[in-house]
Amino acid sequence: MVTVEAWCCGHVLRVVSPPKDLKKPRGKKCHFVKFFGTEDHAWIKVEQLKPYHTHKEEMIKINKGKRFQQAVDAVEDFLKKAKGKEQVWGIILFNSLSVSSQPASSMEPISKRLKIVEEDSGSTSIQAADSTAISGSITPTDKRIGFLGLGLMGSGIVSNLLKMGHVVTVWNRTAEKCDLFIQEGARLGRTPAEVASTCDITFSCVSGPKAARDLVFGPSGVLQGIRPGKCYVEMSTVDPETIIELSQVITSRGGRFLESPVAGSQQLSNDGMLVILSAGDRTVYEDCSSCFQAMGKTSFFLGEAGNAARMMLILNMVQGSFMATIAEGLTLAQATGQSQQTFLDILCQGQMASTFSSMFEDILQGNFKPDYYLKHIQKDLRLAISMGDMANHPTPMAAAANEVYKRAKALDQSDNDMSAVYRAYIH
Ligand SMILES: NC(=O)c1ccc[n+]([C@@H]2O[C@H](COP(=O)([O-])OP(=O)(O)OC[C@H]3O[C@@H](n4cnc5c(N)ncnc54)[C@H](OP(=O)(O)O)[C@@H]3O)[C@@H](O)[C@H]2O)c1
Repeated sequence: MVTVEAWCCGHVLRVVSPPKDLKKPRGKKCHFVKFFGTEDHAWIKVEQLKPYHTHKEEMIKINKGKRFQQAVDAVEDFLKKAKGKEQVWGIILFNSLSVSSQPASSMEPISKRLKIVEEDSGSTSIQAADSTAISGSITPTDKRIGFLGLGLMGSGIVSNLLKMGHVVTVWNRTAEKCDLFIQEGARLGRTPAEVASTCDITFSCVSGPKAARDLVFGPSGVLQGIRPGKCYVEMSTVDPETIIELSQVITSRGGRFLESPVAGSQQLSNDGMLVILSAGDRTVYEDCSSCFQAMGKTSFFLGEAGNAARMMLILNMVQGSFMATIAEGLTLAQATGQSQQTFLDILCQGQMASTFSSMFEDILQGNFKPDYYLKHIQKDLRLAISMGDMANHPTPMAAAANEVYKRAKALDQSDNDMSAVYRAYIH
């Protein structure tokens, strides 16, 4: 039951009923809140929340950041849409100034405080609290961080690393993309080799296998900067063979290697709410813990290098096939005289509601602004199918979906969002 809509340091949140078996923290009165758009819950002291309407202007003056303005827009938009439909008792605002000055213990996130969990499968996960909401509780590593690749994903990740107090040196093939981050406090690296040699941990997040290899093996590439003890973390979604090759060359130079591809979207990257899958050198994984807290909500350690790429391709294969199936359903609804909106409304009553519903609406409105490039999900389907081939395992659904994405690419949809696969069905 929704009672109060609110936001917290740029995050929209709402006060909801806590699960019956969940005890309220002792002491001061708290609200149980759920972060809008995510599944994160926390107890927040009532005194940390302020009425939205009466404090709106004051807060806008204090918080000049773009994200804060985006959050205001989100609340206003939500209010407009909710009018008459939802029971909204009030809008409250979490005073972001009080976040930094309050001890972290004043918020008690449930599944999200940092912990490392050993699971039966032998995999390990770090669960991080909402990094923005409890920024006071993250202690940034004092290691020097390098970051190569400032695309949709890298940009959000670097912003969050900087916000959480990390010392970051950036490099991007198209150099102008670095400017914004330099203004935000990053240092500029002139080449991937320079970044790898001057930083302790260098992350890379580029488009795919070829770009990942170019960065390492190319002129002034990472390999020329790797020295014993330096860490290299490959975050791009690539095939396991590429990961194994990169791992071997980095370690052959005395470097330490981790792969950490991410599940999410541009929005989740900006929000510091990615899910990070890691494999390779466990000690690097541990050294990266404050970085992973800044950029993600959870991270998993999956064992030897290659495992995270395998898991990520399987996840993206499911996501890509699912998106294509939705596009097929939507267009079949239209072709048989059914309302597309009603189809989506019915679909969104079910379990799939939360993740995809806004994307579905965007399709109907013809909004294909990229959150996840269509060209990248097609790359992932292709790599997953090839992985199935090597394991002698059939992937007929993924193969069919891949053909639809290939058609969408031929229709010039590569640089649109993956939901533009819809256009492949319009004939
Ligand atoms: N977007 C998502 O929702 C999402 C979600 C999960 C995982 N991923 C994965 O994350 C990775 C990055 O995705 P993205 O959305 O950030 O991609 P993007 O916006 O297309 O950015 C790609 C980045 O790679 C760089 N690049 C491409 N080719 C290069 C080369 N040969 N040498 C050096 N740099 C090169 C680009 O540099 P320029 O700026 O110079 O072009 C840019 O910085 C991909 O592997 C993708 O599959 C994406």
